[in-house]
Amino acid sequence: MNPNQTWVITGANRGLGRALTEAALDAGHSVLATVRGTHTLPEHDRLAVHQLDVRQRERAREVVAGAVKEFGRLDVLVNNAGYGLIGAIEEVDEAEAREIIDTDLFGALWLSQAAASIMREQGAGDIVQISTVGAVGTMPTMGLYNAAKWALEGFSEALAAEVRGFGVRVTLAELGGIDTEWATSSMRFSAPHPAYDALRTSLFGTPEVPWPGDGTGGGTSQHDAAAAILAHVADPTDRRLRLLVGDDAPAQVLAAMNNRRRDYKLDPRFVSAGSPSHE
Ligand SMILES: NC(=O)c1ccc[n+]([C@@H]2O[C@H](COP(=O)([O-])OP(=O)(O)OC[C@H]3O[C@@H](n4cnc5c(N)ncnc54)[C@H](OP(=O)(O)O)[C@@H]3O)[C@@H](O)[C@H]2O)c1
Repeated sequence: MNPNQTWVITGANRGLGRALTEAALDAGHSVLATVRGTHTLPEHDRLAVHQLDVRQRERAREVVAGAVKEFGRLDVLVNNAGYGLIGAIEEVDEAEAREIIDTDLFGALWLSQAAASIMREQGAGDIVQISTVGAVGTMPTMGLYNAAKWALEGFSEALAAEVRGFGVRVTLAELGGIDTEWATSSMRFSAPHPAYDALRTSLFGTPEVPWPGDGTGGGTSQHDAAAAILAHVADPTDRRLRLLVGDDAPAQVLAAMNNRRRDYKLDPRFVSAGSPSHE
């Protein structure tokens, strides 16, 4: 592993961003952590905390450049900041739709652009996008979140091929359920329409939203998730674009892939094009 790397991690005051910040510091790296508003990150001589709402493109550029000013280089960017939205497509209003795309998609895009130019000139670097198994499949009532993360994966796969030749690696960390506040107090909800009460009941056991926001959701420990991401970054021979993170992630992705394959197979040309031999 390369010690004393410089990491930029967004959304670092809590959840996975905080776990990554602590793990990177423990591993000997320097971290520029971004937060919104007040924070409870510890004082540390290798930690710089900067304010950033990831929707602000110019500010994102300043923050990324700040890592080079402060620590001399930029080795790893983790686009972690993000949130989920529960709302059937018909229920999501314009402001809600724009805000989640601005945050989960454009936020990561602005930071990736800023980091890519620095890393390209350095001839090295890692861009890690915190994605989800929900960027492979979808779930009813999570369509805007799925859309934002699918689009994140779309531009990132293209970016990976664009910058590989410059020594820059892009990784899509596809998370299963992680025990942060993502599914509880961080979750946002569109105004429910009674037409979707039965669907919400089948999915969540109740038509009521928002649901109680206390505590953390279930799933893989955020510290284990952070450790898996650090281990991947520390291994330059690991060329995976998609890194499955969390105990349930492989099965979720397999189910989504099987659904898609079943759908394509309804077109006989797909079968005659030789799909069975590729399975
Ligand atoms: N936990 C899961 O089960 C799960 C599964 C799949 C993917 N993910 C993804 O994992 C990432 C981390 O989420 P988490 O699980 O750690 O949830 P979390 O505990 O709710 O943390 C989310 C972080 O994102 C920050 N954030 C939200 N909007 C922001 C904005 N506009 N600008 C800057 N920061 C912003 C929050 O900042 P504040 O503290 O200021 O609110 C917070 O630090 C997200 O991208 C999420 O979509 C999580």
